[in-house]
Amino acid sequence: MNTYTMDRNIAFELGRICERAALACAPYVGRGDRHTADGAATDAMRKAFDDLYIRGTIVIGEGERDEAPMLYIGEKVGGKGEAAEGPELEIAVDPLEGTNLCANGWPGAITVIAAAVKGEGKLLHAPDVYMEKIAVGEACRGATDLQLSPTENLNRIAVRLEKPVKELTIMILDRPRHEKLIEEVRKAGARIKLITDGDVAGALACAKRESGIDCLMGIGAAPEGVLAAAGLRALRGEIQGRLIFKDDAEKERAKSMGVTDPDHIYTTEELAQGNVMFAATGVTTGDFLKGVRYTKHGAWTNTVVMRSRTHTIRWQEVEHHFDNEPYKS
Ligand code: FBP
Repeated sequence: MNTYTMDRNIAFELGRICERAALACAPYVGRGDRHTADGAATDAMRKAFDDLYIRGTIVIGEGERDEAPMLYIGEKVGGKGEAAEGPELEIAVDPLEGTNLCANGWPGAITVIAAAVKGEGKLLHAPDVYMEKIAVGEACRGATDLQLSPTENLNRIAVRLEKPVKELTIMILDRPRHEKLIEEVRKAGARIKLITDGDVAGALACAKRESGIDCLMGIGAAPEGVLAAAGLRALRGEIQGRLIFKDDAEKERAKSMGVTDPDHIYTTEELAQGNVMFAATGVTTGDFLKGVRYTKHGAWTNTVVMRSRTHTIRWQEVEHHFDNEPYKS
């Protein structure tokens, strides 16, 4: 099998794994317990990887080995036996991105995986620190720059999108650290959509025209920046990221993970290099994906599967029947 066919097949399987994780945490939507929801998604995702004939290594996951029982950084995943000859993959996961969104039944919780076949692509092994981000869709590629002020970036986006700044919608995580950013964006006259969590789906929404989101700005988690970059590579969007360190200990840790310049501004291609695959399933309906919807016999899921190699974006509406395998296991 050539690599073109191989990652096409793997990408589909990653979509299936995301569906399994979404279906596992969907019963916990709005039940106020984010840890149980996250645990259910993580457990389902981890088990589902066993069906895949790959030799995968988690490079972005639920944390370090001593703090996460599964899908930890460095964990090997993939089916045993037949998989011994399978392709080697670097895998980034977030079994439930937006644990609070799920626990509260708020929009935008997703399950997400990005991957690259070794030698074909690479994902930045981002330390678990914050990252300042700016993400846009295809029309604004090359227009924004983290070194510019938010006002300058808004002006450049407005020119590319051929509409006034007052018609732009900027997504920002609702955090005290963004007080100044929000003030400046409002002063510039742009509209803001504040989100409580979930800046992976937020970044990807910028590249989905009908979302109405033109840009994501602000500081979120760095691993989420890598996941978003993998999706944006396929969607032809763009993200820039700069690591933000709380203290010297975080800086040192990043250094030990290979970060040589702490002030470096990462491009989309540096965060997710070469040929990358991406899949995500909605848990709760948001700007990027629809959530899990129960039916008489099972549930509908909404999944996106895409690859940077071809830029083919597959939106999959899938009907699941719970009286069949694999839901019974
Ligand atoms: P969880 O899924 O771990 O709850 O994180 C969600 C999230 O909102 C991310 O989307 C975002 O990048 C990060 O948390 C922001 O971190 P913080 O909550 O510390 O501001």
